[in-house]
Amino acid sequence: MEEERRRIVVVGATSAIAGHCARIWAQREPTDLVLVGRDDAKLEHVASDLRVRGSASNIRIVRLDFLDTEEIASTVASIAQEPIDVVLIAHGALPLQDACQTDLALCRETLEVNGVSPVLFAEAFAGAMDENREATIALIGSVAGDRGRKSNYVYGSAKGMIDRYAQGLQHRFYGTKIRVVLVKPGPTDTPMTARFRAEGASLASAAGVARRIVHAIDKGRSVVYAPCHWSLVMRALRCLPDFVFYRLNI
Ligand SMILES: NC(=O)c1ccc[n+]([C@@H]2O[C@H](COP(=O)([O-])OP(=O)(O)OC[C@H]3O[C@@H](n4cnc5c(N)ncnc54)[C@H](OP(=O)(O)O)[C@@H]3O)[C@@H](O)[C@H]2O)c1
Repeated sequence: MEEERRRIVVVGATSAIAGHCARIWAQREPTDLVLVGRDDAKLEHVASDLRVRGSASNIRIVRLDFLDTEEIASTVASIAQEPIDVVLIAHGALPLQDACQTDLALCRETLEVNGVSPVLFAEAFAGAMDENREATIALIGSVAGDRGRKSNYVYGSAKGMIDRYAQGLQHRFYGTKIRVVLVKPGPTDTPMTARFRAEGASLASAAGVARRIVHAIDKGRSVVYAPCHWSLVMRALRCLPDFVFYRLNI
């Protein structure tokens, strides 16, 4: 008898990190992948690549406005008509901190794209899941959410919101078959960090971070840093007293 395929939904599927996760899933075993994004052409590009790499997998694309609550609700309801095994919520944007300080519209958009929108997606999927059936909701946060820093605190505060949200969702689903996984990458080589790469910053590979995300989802880990050394770095940073921390140019 043919084994049932896993059904995986990737929200923000055109992200470099999420794209690498999707490749791992598509190549590992025949999988039903639903790629959710805001741009049809980009989604189709990712889907074509996955169809070549994992020819036995089914790839479907879904486009919507990520800041429209009603569209999120109706799209998730439609996707969730069939059971879901994994949802990865991956979208995000990192504008310059200085620009967020002088442009309140950008500040708001940054908070919405990185904080409110992922929470709305997660909440919609959480409401559609059967607590007696194994499934995972994974969210990509960031080390930037661990402690506010002058260089990126608008983005960081939205990621901090994801952190607290994931904690609450983990509490809500305790004792059920639903796992909630929060992954906090450090600086990673993707289009989001192109300007840091140009400045010579040390960046993790998107493929390596994706492997860690997939592993965390397989194991149902509640919180994972990627790469793992960021767990120690951020623990140290969180513990620094303010009078030391404020002197750091970070
Ligand atoms: N790269 C890093 O150093 C790093 C570190 C920590 C955490 N993260 C997090 O990792 C996740 C993946 O990021 P990445 O590094 O893979 O970045 P990326 O390749 O630049 O991808 C960003 C993704 O977010 C989507 N997006 C941006 N603004 C959006 C909006 N207004 N509405 C809907 N979608 C929007 C993009 O869609 P389009 O393709 O349509 O533009 C794309 O899918 C994000 O949550 C990011 O915050 C990244």
